[in-house]
Amino acid sequence: MKKKVDVLLGLQWGDEGKGKIVDVLTPKYDVVARFQGGPNAGHTLEFGGKKFVLRSIPSGIFQGEQTNIIGNGVVLDPALFMGEAVELEKAGYNLKKNLFISKKAHLILPTGRILDAAYEAAKGDAKVGTTGKGIGPTYTDKISRNGLRVGDILENFEEKYAQAKARHEQILKNLNYTYDITEMEAKWLEGIAYLKEFRLIDSEQFVNDLMDEGKSVLGEGAQGSMLDIDFGSYPFVTSSNTVCAGACTGLGIAPNRIGDVYGITKAYCTRVGSGPFPTELFDEVGKEMRDRGHEYGAVTGRERRCGWIDLVILKYTIMVNGVTHLILMKSDVLDTFPTIKACVAYKKNGETVDHLPYDISDVEPIYTELKGWQCDLTKITREEDLPKEFVDYIKFLEEQLGVPVKYVSIGPDREQTITRNI
Ligand code: GDP
Ligand code: IMO
Ligand code: MG
Repeated sequence: MKKKVDVLLGLQWGDEGKGKIVDVLTPKYDVVARFQGGPNAGHTLEFGGKKFVLRSIPSGIFQGEQTNIIGNGVVLDPALFMGEAVELEKAGYNLKKNLFISKKAHLILPTGRILDAAYEAAKGDAKVGTTGKGIGPTYTDKISRNGLRVGDILENFEEKYAQAKARHEQILKNLNYTYDITEMEAKWLEGIAYLKEFRLIDSEQFVNDLMDEGKSVLGEGAQGSMLDIDFGSYPFVTSSNTVCAGACTGLGIAPNRIGDVYGITKAYCTRVGSGPFPTELFDEVGKEMRDRGHEYGAVTGRERRCGWIDLVILKYTIMVNGVTHLILMKSDVLDTFPTIKACVAYKKNGETVDHLPYDISDVEPIYTELKGWQCDLTKITREEDLPKEFVDYIKFLEEQLGVPVKYVSIGPDREQTITRNI
């Protein structure tokens, strides 16, 4: 039977725990595919006392012999990819066999990373707070038809690279930005040679053929819907479509072949980088969330901003993604809180709004309060052992959002996941 693609994606500002859950769900699938973003992502997985952070490689690489694909919608930095892949090979994972890379994925150039820094510097206080990985300039080159793709490394690459680099250098000169890429470039060229050892493929044909053979595919989103270039808190967003539709363009899958859509949310909310965050907390409660949740960036180590869950945002991101199942992450972080708050609407210009307005920089959250469970969730293994107050919180979310919560995560380890009987 022809199969559909299930998609798993973040409903907030990223770091919801996508890596962990993709790893948990991988045994149900034959193929795991990344469809957008690049090394701005940091997906953390923990199992058997080990911890891995993946940036470009799909989180399906650890469970067995699944096929993993880096799709055409991804932007790839060969140097960072090499660093990541070599570590995994050392740990015994057979990447050369199980990982396939789209020839149509775009390459992040060393000068692309420099441009990222130069544009940020030029913005001054209005900076986006990017991860500095060259994401924006690389997608800009793609859209303006100046990009270099993985497939380009197979023929006349030196010439193509020299041209693309010269273009960037000219822009940097115009910006009066000084830099030295000698070391970075040497590593990058090493990465290009390393990349050639992998299976570079026409991934859209490959993935559709696999589905026609009855193979099941899980699309792994990066970032979160509030960082989407169209629907996020623009301009404080990333440069790709992080929403479900990105799986179609980023893998070459027709919209009518999208199956289940798993939307992930933390039991609270975080954000890294600049931009509005209506429920952000600047007090002890926010600090406790950060401390208990170890809310520091997996890629940049930056402090993540913390706040209460925002149902106005979740309703919106559920809508644009067509979410069929919710996954509630990091519930254990709220174990100590006597009261849990959830933002159910905003006050804007003196009026109450319950939908996401164009500008959220001047809204004030309106909260509903629920009783906290105040006990340790991390060792619970059965749904029926979850405390009543926590179940009430889940039911409240389901009622407000109109989508069932299928999985509940109560710790970073693969095993600390409860499947709900719904
Ligand atoms: P991703 O980018 O969406 O994959 O998420 P990150 O890996 O950037 O951030 C999620 C962080 O939370 C990681 O450090 C995970 O190990 C951790 N984590 C995931 N699920 C849970 C959970 O249920 N409880 C706790 N305490 N930590 C979790
Ligand atoms: P994962 O996949 C959290 C944020 C950056 C910045 C904005 C633009 O781990 O959830 P970029 O480098 O993409 O141009 O930065 O987006 N950002 C993320 N925040 N998690 C991520 O990925 C992110 N990727 C980008 O902090 O605000
Ligand atoms: Mg992350």
